[in-house]
Amino acid sequence: MIAGPFGAVADVFRPEAIGRAVRIRGWVLRLRSSGGILFLVLRDRTGTAQVTGRRDVLGPERFDAVEHVQVEGAIQVEGTVADDPRAPGGREVRARTIEIVDAGAPFPIFQEQTEEFRLDKRHLVIRSADHVATFRVKAELLRAIREFLATEEVLETTPPILTANPAEGGAEAFAIDYFGRPGYLSQSAQLYLEAMIAPHERVYALTPSFRAEKSRTPRHLTEYQHLEVELAWSDLDGLMDFVERMILAACHAVAERRPAELTALGRPPQELLGLHGPFPRVPYLEAIGRLQRAGLPVTWGSDIATAEERALTLEEREPIFITRFPRELKAFYMLRTPGDPRTVEAADLLAPEGYGEIVGASCRETDVDALIERLRASGANLADYEWYLDLRRHGNVPHAGFGLGVERLLRWMLRREHIRDTTPFPRTPSRHTP
Ligand code: 4AD
Ligand code: MG
Repeated sequence: MIAGPFGAVADVFRPEAIGRAVRIRGWVLRLRSSGGILFLVLRDRTGTAQVTGRRDVLGPERFDAVEHVQVEGAIQVEGTVADDPRAPGGREVRARTIEIVDAGAPFPIFQEQTEEFRLDKRHLVIRSADHVATFRVKAELLRAIREFLATEEVLETTPPILTANPAEGGAEAFAIDYFGRPGYLSQSAQLYLEAMIAPHERVYALTPSFRAEKSRTPRHLTEYQHLEVELAWSDLDGLMDFVERMILAACHAVAERRPAELTALGRPPQELLGLHGPFPRVPYLEAIGRLQRAGLPVTWGSDIATAEERALTLEEREPIFITRFPRELKAFYMLRTPGDPRTVEAADLLAPEGYGEIVGASCRETDVDALIERLRASGANLADYEWYLDLRRHGNVPHAGFGLGVERLLRWMLRREHIRDTTPFPRTPSRHTP
């Protein structure tokens, strides 16, 4: 029995570690034996290190047992750190004893397996190096966003996920049976955040959002992490300034804190550090003009869908805003542009290099009659939105907000082909397991 405490694998590589006794534990990345010596690579949360074990030191019984530990089996090691130029990183731990926590069954994951199989075995695949790097970056991204929002004095709040009224249109809401009454999984916390600006002025929520879109695209999940911010007193320009500052702060922080992971995943950190803004702000009308000149069959009123987003951003190095969309293309709660009844005060932020929309932003309609008219036109049941309409009757102030798809942002930051590679257990139309 190895009595703790245990150190971190990364500590093996500290300058002063040479010659010292260490206790480390973790999972076996690979293992082989030759000439009475075991060579294994041990992984913990901090890194990997080579461990060697001699038959004459461990004793034949222990040696034979460890020799049969499988890839991803778990062990504890007590030994001495030594320099060895042949070991990865130039160091190894020479084991005095090795204890088996779980010898493990043969690990079923190999590089050349089909994507479907790997998705079925996602609970094991997430141990691989690219997943480890991805989720370290994701955690850093979430931390950076929260730090930025704290600096900006935006209050974190906890809106509900179970709701009686869809926020973004019934067709794409997951309906649930709420004790015999209709309910929906939240598509957006926006309506609740709008309620919370009266007491707090600047609020945000980071919650899962659910979209029952049957879109099998590389950028749609049915469940995703949604960062939503709502700001009292903001107009569209102020909101775009805020989004831009936040994206730049997040990209820079991630590049500074996770350079090795970014490099390993194919995004040189210098590229993120090199982003500086301002992000171009292109009115919808001008975007349509650009697309027409590029030969795309679009006119006023056309949706900016995947192909259009791609054409608009393929050559861009920084994200761009598309602003002031035709009213019919957008949600019921968006404010009509003063002086132009055809458009709304909305802006979508498109990632460069063809990765598409990462933020949807807008000023909110403050006129209760205009809201009622738009809700009616969308076929909504007005009674379900009565509480929301109430907000326009008691301290109704100009306000604006946005939603950011965390996995969309990460997909661009990490240049991942498919959005499912930015979340450990992806939910798509064809999969909600494991
Ligand atoms: O543009 P959306 O639908 O806007 C809203 O939900 C607003 N109510 C947000 C707000 O103003 N509070 O969604 C916002 C963002 C999109 O820009 C996109 O990044 C992401 O959410 N998103 C998705 N991400 C992954 N998979 C999906 N199916 C997504 N649908 C939207
Ligand atoms: Mg949108």
